Amino acid sequence: MDTGVKSRFALFKSDFMIRITGVNNNYDHGVNCDRTRIMKVVIIGAGGHGRVVLDILRKNHQFEIVGFLDSNPSLLHSFVDGVQVIGDLSMVSRFRQHDIGGAIVAIGDNKVRDKYATDLENLGISLVNAIHPSATIADNARIGKNVVIASGTNICTHVILEDSVICNTGCIIDHESVIRRAVHICPGVKIAGHVTVNEAAFIGIGATIIQGVTIGESVVAGAGTVILEDVPTFSTVVGVPARLTKTSHIPDLNQKIQASTADLEPVRSLVTRPVRIRPQPLASGPKS
Ligand SMILES: CC(C)(COP(=O)(O)OP(=O)(O)OC[C@H]1O[C@@H](n2cnc3c(N)ncnc32)[C@H](O)[C@@H]1OP(=O)(O)O)[C@@H](O)C(=O)NCCC(=O)NCCS
Repeated sequence: MDTGVKSRFALFKSDFMIRITGVNNNYDHGVNCDRTRIMKVVIIGAGGHGRVVLDILRKNHQFEIVGFLDSNPSLLHSFVDGVQVIGDLSMVSRFRQHDIGGAIVAIGDNKVRDKYATDLENLGISLVNAIHPSATIADNARIGKNVVIASGTNICTHVILEDSVICNTGCIIDHESVIRRAVHICPGVKIAGHVTVNEAAFIGIGATIIQGVTIGESVVAGAGTVILEDVPTFSTVVGVPARLTKTSHIPDLNQKIQASTADLEPVRSLVTRPVRIRPQPLASGPKS
């Protein structure tokens, strides 16, 4: 490699995203960590999405899964697919003590996932990606942090997936599309080339988006929707072709979003407050 190419490569790597290397070497993809040793990680959120993330991380031999963290006290000490719920987010303060190198926020709600991921990053916690080995990812696709790429997905050339994006089972994202922060692309979605899906949008199962379309922030696209044209911010579309069923004034919606996340304690305050739960051994428990 000549020097020019090398320095361009270094610059590209120092970008805010991790460069993806090797289409057929997906075990190595998108882990924001030292690849030479096993990293101990926790999964935040022990619900359905947490189970999906656990399954993917188990297939990636660079991680040791220490346990789940969940704010639901009734889940404490329970096992989810053989991995124990070891505490809530207050455990974050003890990561260093237990040599935990990172976390992944596995919460389906786009805004909540994004908020926790941001809080954790501000506390200096590394966020890792969960990329299924059966996913096919172009060499030059760029992938942020806290990203989930589920089984059978196809991420094509020059695609950008920003932080906290979920690309769910079997979805296809075609060339040069940009999927912004905290978007959820549901199973079986097909996105053509040059599409932009803006922050926190939810693209329902089996939806199709044709080339060049822009989907606004926080849009909800119903299951099976076929989107042929741009969709305005904060609206809901359903059907074939897509029709608008709801749209909201942005100030109203901003208030609504603030209200929906207002009762979420900032992770920082969880970390600094006295720990309410009895300290738990950080054992993964029996594997199922
Ligand atoms: C669109 C959706 C979010 C509901 O949104 P909503 O604003 O609450 O919509 P409503 O249920 O009030 O329905 C409004 C209208 O849209 C229709 N509608 C709702 N979802 C639809 C869909 N997917 N396709 C076609 N029409 C749909 C309803 O029949 C109703 O029609 P009407 O006004 O003629 O009676 C939901 O139906 C949906 O499709 N969710 C996706 C679920 C999914 O993908 N899950 C995967 C998780 S991994």
